[in-house]
Amino acid sequence: MPQTGKSTTHDAAADPRNAELRIYVNGRLVPRAEATVSVYDSGFLLGDGVWEGIRLHNGRWAFLGEHLDRLFEAARAIDLDIGMDRAGLAKALDDTARANAMRDNVHARLMVTRGPKARPFQDPRLSRSGPTVVIIMEHSQPSEESFRRGVVLASVPVHRGLPLTQDPKLNSHSKLNCVLAAVHAQKAGADEALMFDPHGFVNTTNSCNFFIVRRGEVWTSTADYCMPGITRAKVIALCRENAIPVFERNFSLVETYGAEEAFLTGTFGAQTPVASIDGRRFAVPGPLTARIRALYKELVRRNTAG
Ligand SMILES: Cc1ncc(COP(=O)(O)O)c(C=O)c1O
Repeated sequence: MPQTGKSTTHDAAADPRNAELRIYVNGRLVPRAEATVSVYDSGFLLGDGVWEGIRLHNGRWAFLGEHLDRLFEAARAIDLDIGMDRAGLAKALDDTARANAMRDNVHARLMVTRGPKARPFQDPRLSRSGPTVVIIMEHSQPSEESFRRGVVLASVPVHRGLPLTQDPKLNSHSKLNCVLAAVHAQKAGADEALMFDPHGFVNTTNSCNFFIVRRGEVWTSTADYCMPGITRAKVIALCRENAIPVFERNFSLVETYGAEEAFLTGTFGAQTPVASIDGRRFAVPGPLTARIRALYKELVRRNTAG
């Protein structure tokens, strides 16, 4: 029987507390229903902004330094002045967590756009009022069901761009390329899209980094065309520390179909097993995926210990 997509890489257990959240909007903590930005906002009009997804464990932000490094680098790349320093952003995250009485199993989306525009056109000089900073923080325990069942992938023709166009390393608000890849995959009955690089090598999915396990080796694409995922980097480092052979290399769809296991990485879901790709099934959860997931869980515990 063909598998159909039922999971997403961002499934979380339903939590009624999320209906009553306080959202950070430019220094104010407002009830979710009142948390709005202008229809003139550069993020709404153009997808002109950058963002980070971060997790709170034990009252501490996991790998916060790495997330802030990536955010400031992205902001600099698009010539966006965040208007706050690292300490200010860390305090905004902590204040939002406190306003929501949050400590554990929390996911924050920290977004910075070029702010409201004087007129509804592209010219960045029309964004004259300073940036818009929003933090949406939700109670979010990744679904165990996604881990047990795994996600269904379909390879799609919408591929990663060259760095000369919209550098796919940039965590920009505009994710249209990734969204179109996901639409393609979902029309094919899958949950998530497996995307190629411009040379036809397997690269990433539309919202997570991608790994395969072949003959006891862990392979992931080179970082040339994917998001430099923080979870990806941690998994590579953990493999090295634990004598698990790991390679950042080019590989094809044929080699991917021939893998024993495949998994995705991202801050939200940590490691999510892949159940099938284009109808080729994989062990779920594969033994090495489960081992890496346990190592990562321990790393996060150490990173956020009091
Ligand atoms: C396209 C894409 N790939 C991968 C990731 C995972 O990155 P990280 O592990 O830093 O959450 C993200 C997360 O924002 C993403 O948008």
